[in-house]
Amino acid sequence: MKSREYIFSGKNMSIYLDANTETIEKLVNKNRCIVITDSNLFAAHPYFFSQWKTIVIPAGEIHKQQSTIDSIIQQLIKLEADRKTLLLGIGGGVVTDITGFVAGIYMRGVSFALIPTSLLAMIDAAIGGKNGIDVGIYKNLIGLIRQPDFILYDHSFLHSLPQEEWINGFAEIIKHACIKDVQLFEFLEKTDLHAIQSTPHLLATLIDKNIAIKTNIVQQDEFEQADRKLLNYGHTIGHAIENLYQLPHGHAISIGMVMAATISEEINQFASVEKQRLIQLLNHYHLPTTIAIDKQKVFDILKMDKKRIDDCIHFILLNKIGEAIIQPIPMIQLEDIFNQTL
Ligand SMILES: NC(=O)c1ccc[n+]([C@@H]2O[C@H](COP(=O)([O-])OP(=O)(O)OC[C@H]3O[C@@H](n4cnc5c(N)ncnc54)[C@H](O)[C@@H]3O)[C@@H](O)[C@H]2O)c1
Ligand SMILES: [Zn+2]
Repeated sequence: MKSREYIFSGKNMSIYLDANTETIEKLVNKNRCIVITDSNLFAAHPYFFSQWKTIVIPAGEIHKQQSTIDSIIQQLIKLEADRKTLLLGIGGGVVTDITGFVAGIYMRGVSFALIPTSLLAMIDAAIGGKNGIDVGIYKNLIGLIRQPDFILYDHSFLHSLPQEEWINGFAEIIKHACIKDVQLFEFLEKTDLHAIQSTPHLLATLIDKNIAIKTNIVQQDEFEQADRKLLNYGHTIGHAIENLYQLPHGHAISIGMVMAATISEEINQFASVEKQRLIQLLNHYHLPTTIAIDKQKVFDILKMDKKRIDDCIHFILLNKIGEAIIQPIPMIQLEDIFNQTL
């Protein structure tokens, strides 16, 4: 089995890259483990989950809220979970975020591990130890940074992933390419979704490449003092519109990346041909690139953004494809750009 070892905050974390359900049984003591998953995964893999003590949460971002945490905690108490219990989150980003969050607070912290099952969670959400939940429309407003014991990849879970969720995953893959890896961008331009889905080694290579991009950034800056902020490319406006317009995360981020590219053109001399290339690539992977927004409402949400410091929002802009920077933009200037350009 291919695995990589990482050290975060002085603690080891393993990533098992080409594992399967048998590996899971070897790694985890079933008697001490409680699985957390969502209703879609539970329905798609009934045999697998029948073998584990499992808490099932309702699927969907709308449930990434405190009420779901309360319900999980009640069930943990009923199942007599103690400090030695391992919480194993098996699902998309909602499940991996929630599992990390509950593990961080239950009995002041128990161990957890993750098996991401959506493309997006595999290449992004499960990696990096950020575990947050939403408060009303405010995305990931509360949470903590805490690493799992391990992350395990079993690509066979992807067989049940709906097509639109594959597409959402590509938004984050394209984000990685935009901020760090022009070669990945060019590779994505040359291939397409169907080819990747139908060629296992191409898919495995793409997933491994994106795991490497994210883990490298997080390793250098676990607590988001510098480079980790670049991963927020497309997310400042993306998060603002995601819950306001009930968009899938990937769609919101796709539109957010285009808007951030427009701001990059305005502030940062990002070339307009490069922006067109980005729009084309997003379309090529069936992602939306525009939406009619209520500018005032979106701007009001931006004022609450975690990246706002005093009167500036710390925006992630592109210098060119493959190279991003953190740029503080005064709220007044941003309001102007919003009203005149976006
Ligand atoms: N913590 C982080 O660093 C981080 C990074 C990126 C995104 N996120 C969070 O991740 C979430 C988005 O992740 P997501 O797109 O995976 O969301 P999700 O968990 O809602 O999964 C998307 C949908 O796919 C279904 N699904 C997942 N895997 C499946 C499978 N193998 N078979 C069948 N159905 C499956 C889910 O039930 C859900 O309906 C957001 O809440 C976002 O804020 C967190
Ligand atoms: Zn994201």
